[in-house]
Amino acid sequence: MNLLKPQVNPPLWLLAELTYRCPLQCPYCSNPLDFAQQEKELTTEQWIEVFKQARQMGAVQLGFSGGEPLVRKDLPELIRAARDLGFYTNLITSGIGLTQKKIDAFAEAGLDHIQISFQASDETLNAALAGSQKAFQQKLEMAKAVKAHGYPMVLNFVLHRHNIDQIAQIIELAIELEADDVELATCQFYGWAQLNREGLLPTREQIARAEEVVQHYREKMKDSSNFANLLFVTPDYYEERPKGCMGGWGAIFLSVTPEGMALPCHSARQLPVEFPSVLEHTLQEIWYESFGFNKYRGFDWMPEPCRSCSEKEKDFGGCRCQAFMLTGNADNADPVCAKSPHHGQILEAREQANCTNMRIDQLQFRNRANSQLIFKTEV
Ligand code: FES
Repeated sequence: MNLLKPQVNPPLWLLAELTYRCPLQCPYCSNPLDFAQQEKELTTEQWIEVFKQARQMGAVQLGFSGGEPLVRKDLPELIRAARDLGFYTNLITSGIGLTQKKIDAFAEAGLDHIQISFQASDETLNAALAGSQKAFQQKLEMAKAVKAHGYPMVLNFVLHRHNIDQIAQIIELAIELEADDVELATCQFYGWAQLNREGLLPTREQIARAEEVVQHYREKMKDSSNFANLLFVTPDYYEERPKGCMGGWGAIFLSVTPEGMALPCHSARQLPVEFPSVLEHTLQEIWYESFGFNKYRGFDWMPEPCRSCSEKEKDFGGCRCQAFMLTGNADNADPVCAKSPHHGQILEAREQANCTNMRIDQLQFRNRANSQLIFKTEV
């Protein structure tokens, strides 16, 4: 065995980002800022070929996401193909564009799981964040319809400084909708969320209060039949050690963008690293041999302080995308780590969260006009 080469296992997770089209404009979207430049999308046949290859390699879970995957008219066909190949399939949706008829078609095609995301627990805040007045009612109706259909339903609420104080109402809404699992995920700072970080990052006090509320509900629900899981994800900006992002670079996770770029994480296209297209290479070649997927495998690439750190096998130096966004160099240790010479950036962001009074209407919403404007400013 070559000790210098890390052992590479096959991917387990395939994330199919079917499209960047989306009717909502959430300012915390993790899609790339220049998404409006990417108009091409793989055809039905091309996606099915990707699924086939991933399944042959050993992938077992397939997530359909976007943008909003419901805008793809061939979604039932894609679900059926994935299911026939033996994938466990999960639709990650805002619920906008979902209809009773579509839920029937997805069930018939064999979809296993639906995750609906909400912006808030009330109509006004939901509308302000989603950039759509009708979204909240539609989401409520569709969550009920999904449940009535017998699907295991995950409700996902993205939390930030403007809604985290309503966490009790959010949990109550999830109980009312009979969610099976609830994810209260404080937004992670990629794409549009990073652009809007000042206006989104909660304070440490907000997070501590929210944690107390979650704990209170967990105790209260211990003996009830409410959701199996109440997951609360805090932002890593308040940690002293980084997360082992994606379970390691090119270790279990494979993401494919609408036009077919293969990435080791949903956010990696921003890195100055060349990533291959599924239209030019097989997934086998991409996963095992491509430069991009091998770039941060193992430990040889690591500079100090990661290289000699006893925790490197646990956290892999943290998140490459975060290192790039905050330090300009993806090789650096993730600044979340208190050992990183760039940790000051995280401390500044925490400080900024204490001082800012940025309003929702001052955030940059994820839409085509803003994307084009940002791209123009950058070139
Ligand atoms: Fe890309 Fe963490 S999101 S490595």
